[in-house]
Amino acid sequence: MNAEYILIAGASGKMGTPFVATCLDDDALCLVATTSRRLAGTKIHAKSDLQAHASVEEAIAHATHPPTVGVELTHPSTVYANVLAMIDAGIAPVIGATGLTAEQEKDIDAKLKSKQLAGLLVPNFSIGAVLMMRFAAEASRYFNHAEIIELHHNQKADAPSGTSLRTVQMMQAVRPNFAVINGIEHETLAGARGATSEGKIHIHSVRLPGLVAHQEVLFGDLGQMLTIRHDSFNRDCFMAGIALCCKKVRSLEHGLHHGLETVM
Ligand SMILES: NC(=O)c1ccc[n+]([C@@H]2O[C@H](COP(=O)([O-])OP(=O)(O)OC[C@H]3O[C@@H](n4cnc5c(N)ncnc54)[C@H](OP(=O)(O)O)[C@@H]3O)[C@@H](O)[C@H]2O)c1
Repeated sequence: MNAEYILIAGASGKMGTPFVATCLDDDALCLVATTSRRLAGTKIHAKSDLQAHASVEEAIAHATHPPTVGVELTHPSTVYANVLAMIDAGIAPVIGATGLTAEQEKDIDAKLKSKQLAGLLVPNFSIGAVLMMRFAAEASRYFNHAEIIELHHNQKADAPSGTSLRTVQMMQAVRPNFAVINGIEHETLAGARGATSEGKIHIHSVRLPGLVAHQEVLFGDLGQMLTIRHDSFNRDCFMAGIALCCKKVRSLEHGLHHGLETVM
């Protein structure tokens, strides 16, 4: 079996830490470089001698083997620069961190093509969540009133979630515009109706301690309602998806691909 040589940016985070352990347990994923500013200069895991570095550039320079795949799990403020550094070094990125703008995504796609590399941008690495999005797209064929409630822990940096935006994209591919309730709706308290996406789907973001990552897509029609709900109870649910992306990304066509479904 040909192993992929893995760089993890954000290896000390809530996502990065369990993915370090996943790599150490999987012969097909050989961990060769990690970043964490907090742990820079120290071992990233008790079962490995690999050290963390403060930046992607440093981690690549000190990698125990040239990385072939880079997993980006840091922060909206750093994801773009880290992905560019990976591409410059000929590394195929698997991007889990949210916060890239449409412009930045376009730029990443162009840079990947010019370097003859493939990359994956995955708003949600959980298979159940991908199915939730797929079922929501299917239901959009039959319902023209829909709203999304996404619920996350209160440390999440951005709103709405990448998953809710991806859900909207998939629903809009089936129905470009959902119904507006009435033209004169008035918010007594600004924001009460949530954010409105391009296709007129309202998105409500809940942030509370105790939550992990949850989403409901609600469809309403005369006399009936359909709710499609997915719950991630802990970050273990993402690890198999990240591993799958790492194993498949380099076999994709050059350019940036979206969603775990690309490799499912
Ligand atoms: N695609 C998915 O399925 C999925 C699921 C959950 C989360 N996410 C996304 O993945 C990213 C990481 O999530 P997490 O829960 O693991 O976050 P976290 O616990 O805060 O970890 C962030 C990691 O990035 C590093 N980092 C580097 N620059 C940073 C900066 N400027 N600010 C904060 N941290 C920085 C941190 O280490 P140092 O501070 O030591 O450098 C740490 O290792 C987020 O964007 C989150 O939205 C994606």
